[in-house]
Amino acid sequence: MNILVVGGGGREHAIVWKLQQSPLAGIIFTAPGNPGMRNVTRIPMGSPAELAEFAATNQIGLTMVGPEAPLCDGIVDEFRRRGLRIFGPTQAAAQLEGSKAFAKRFMVAHGIPTAASETFTDAESAIAYIRKMGAPIVVKADGLAAGKGVIVAMTEQEAVDGVRLCFSGAFGAAGATVLVEEFLQGEEASILAFADGTTIVPLASSQDHKRIGDGDTGPNTGGMGAYSPAPVVTDAVWKQIQEQVLDRFLEGCRKEGLDYRGVIYAGVMVTEKGIGVLEFNVRFGDPETQAVLMRLDSDLVEALVAVADKKLSSVELKWGADPAVCVVMAAKGYPGTIEKGAVISGLDAAEAGGAVVFHAGTVLDAQGRFTVQGGRVLGVTARGTTVADAVARAYRAVDAIRWDGAYCRRDIAGRALNRRGAA
Ligand code: AMP
Ligand code: GLY
Repeated sequence: MNILVVGGGGREHAIVWKLQQSPLAGIIFTAPGNPGMRNVTRIPMGSPAELAEFAATNQIGLTMVGPEAPLCDGIVDEFRRRGLRIFGPTQAAAQLEGSKAFAKRFMVAHGIPTAASETFTDAESAIAYIRKMGAPIVVKADGLAAGKGVIVAMTEQEAVDGVRLCFSGAFGAAGATVLVEEFLQGEEASILAFADGTTIVPLASSQDHKRIGDGDTGPNTGGMGAYSPAPVVTDAVWKQIQEQVLDRFLEGCRKEGLDYRGVIYAGVMVTEKGIGVLEFNVRFGDPETQAVLMRLDSDLVEALVAVADKKLSSVELKWGADPAVCVVMAAKGYPGTIEKGAVISGLDAAEAGGAVVFHAGTVLDAQGRFTVQGGRVLGVTARGTTVADAVARAYRAVDAIRWDGAYCRRDIAGRALNRRGAA
């Protein structure tokens, strides 16, 4: 079966890598893909209509959408109108990520535990609410803001500044509506689940590292590393997630007539008082996917087709026991203005020990060398018999890779290591 993968980051590289292990996979096309992906045919990124036309004329049996933007643009609706098989939620369902106010209303309506919040369309009312509630408090731009629209404010002043920033137009239309919500204290986990309208099946748990610096310091990023499983998700926590988040999500989609055939990502805060959902994403997490898919023993083509065809109940997902760790190597300057162009060396040596290097921000130069092009450059991913072993393998691979100004956190999966150490 020919497959089209939409997107070109580390997440999509990991998806392609896993799809290629399936005997069902024929030619894999990627739009736009990235130069680190092997044995794929890259095509330019296009509008939903252009990609649907490509799929129709190239016998694509399955299209898999990685990022949220095409989903929010209605790529799934366009493909289905033309009778083409695609994995992902419709435009209406993608609002669960595209609008935080929509997601909040959905959670409240269907009893999914989440931080208390209010929605505002003018700065003065938002500020008055902040003054009433006090800090710490969280300010969120309603729309897609490339991960930058969330201000976790430790003081009232920071929150007020955050509100003014949103309404100043810094996030464009995404900031015209603002949510102010209760600060939840706890440990976060990334919960991914396949859903097809009648069945919902969780994937292995994982945890992301959002801050740039070791010890979770400095500004937020797209994610500096991930590992799976997340020890904070104990059996008791899984039970709560299944009952209070996943089952209610499925029921909510059914009641609201949202056609959700894809992967739902719930950012879950595990607090002393129970769990709370911080956000929904309507796609795989990046870099969580790199770690999670490395642990999947089942055939991913079969699973994605089953989701798209509403036959998820017919597949069983099998997971390897070995943990996986993904360390993101970033460009100098990230998450601010980055330095591009440095030549990357040591990629083959890094993979010699069994690690897999997923590309996210590289290009090939005229001499065929990989050079730095994006903020998050590589996701170096390894499995091990223990978390410590996986960490050691991932960092051994990281240390084989060099370029001028390369940066990574040195404490990925540190939480899991400390927890095990303490146990
Ligand atoms: P989001 O884009 O909604 O995931 O928010 C980005 C990050 O901000 C999350 O990963 C959390 O670390 C933090 N965050 C978001 N909402 C809250 C909240 N209500 N309480 C505490 N931290 C939050
Ligand atoms: N790693 C966070 C996200 O994919 O949104």
